Amino acid sequence: MLFCIAGDLELSGKIHLLDHYKPKTGVTELSVDIVSYKQLWDSKAGSQADALIAVDGSSDESIVQSNGQFTARQVSAALDIQAGDHVLELGCGVARIGRELAPICAHWTGVDISGKMIERAGERLTHQDNVSLHRLDRSSLEMLPDNSIDKAYSIAVMCHMDKEDLYLYLEELHRVLKPAGMIFVETWNLAHPVGWKRWEYEVRNWSRSDQGVRKDVSRNQFCSPDEFELYQRQAGFEVIRSFSNSPWIQSIATLSTEADWLEQQARRIESSKTAIAYSVLFGEMFEKTIAVIYGVIHPREAIAFCNQHRGTAETDLYRPFILGLWRGNPEQWGEVE
Ligand SMILES: C[S@@+](CC[C@H](N)C(=O)[O-])C[C@H]1O[C@@H](n2cnc3c(N)ncnc32)[C@H](O)[C@@H]1O
Repeated sequence: MLFCIAGDLELSGKIHLLDHYKPKTGVTELSVDIVSYKQLWDSKAGSQADALIAVDGSSDESIVQSNGQFTARQVSAALDIQAGDHVLELGCGVARIGRELAPICAHWTGVDISGKMIERAGERLTHQDNVSLHRLDRSSLEMLPDNSIDKAYSIAVMCHMDKEDLYLYLEELHRVLKPAGMIFVETWNLAHPVGWKRWEYEVRNWSRSDQGVRKDVSRNQFCSPDEFELYQRQAGFEVIRSFSNSPWIQSIATLSTEADWLEQQARRIESSKTAIAYSVLFGEMFEKTIAVIYGVIHPREAIAFCNQHRGTAETDLYRPFILGLWRGNPEQWGEVE
C-alpha cells in the first residue's frame, strides 16, 4: 500500500517531487498517456520485482511478506476471518495480503483489473491449493455467483478509481456477499489534515496537466467519511463501524439488518480496534514520509523519527521505504548515511 504515498513515484524509485509540489500556473507539462486502469497496472507489473514495487514500494520479497502480514492482521481482525470462510479480495495485486490469509480460511479468491498482476499473484501462490484468481474486464464481479462470499475486502484500490467505479464495485460486493457476510473497504480520508495534505499534492501535480485532456483514470482519489459511508449505504450495506482518525477511512459493513447481530459485531470491532485502525504513529510516519517526498524535510529527519520508535510495526513498515527513496535519489539527498 505504500505505493499510494508517492503517487507518481517511478519504478526506479527516482522522484522529481520538489518542483512538482510548487504550484505553477499556465503550465501543461504533465503528459497523460494512460487510458485505462488495466493499461496502467499492467505496465507496472511486467516483472515480479516491478509488481512488488507497484503494490508495496519494495522489490524485496521478505519486506513485502512482512507488510502483507501487517495488513492481513488488520483484515482478519476487521472481518473476524474464520477457517470455514470463503474470502474475496478486490484488487488483489500480487496477493500481498492473500498469500497471508489463504492459510487461515477455507478459500481465498483474488480478482484484479490487471492480467499481469493476476499472473504475478499466481507465481506467489503456487504453494496454496485453496485459491482462485480472476482478471476483471470491467467494474463487475460477473464471474462470481450471487450470495457466495463470506468476507470481502479491498485495500489500496478504491483510492485509485473514479467514484462511479467504486460504487459499481460496492453494488457487486453486495450481490456476491452472503447475508451475514462483511466487507472491509478503505480509501483516502479527505477530512483528515494529513489526508488533505496528500490530496493537495495531487492538486499541484495535476495543475501541470493539459486541462483539455482527461486526467489519469487511476490517479489517487479521496472521500470524506460521510461520502464513503453514503456510497456503502446506497449500495445496500449497513455500515457497522468506520475508523477515520487517520489519512485513511476504513469501513466495515454488512448486509444484515438484524439488530442483535449488528450490536454484537460492533462490540467485537470495538474490542479489536487497535488491531484494525491505523495508529496515530502510523499516521505520523506517513506524514514524515510525504514531507520527504514533497521536499519539505531530508530523509535523514524521517529516519531519525523512525529510530525514535524502533521495535514498532510502524517503523518496520516505513523505515525500509524511506531508505529505498533515499537510496534511489542520491543526486537529491546525497548517499544514504
Ligand atoms: C496499490 S495496489 C494494491 C494491491 C493489494 N490490494 C495490496 O494491498 O497489496 C492496487 C491494485 O488494484 C488494482 N486495480 C486498480 N484499479 C482497479 C480497478 N478499477 N478494478 C480492479 N482492480 C483495480 C491494480 O491492478 C492493483 O493490483
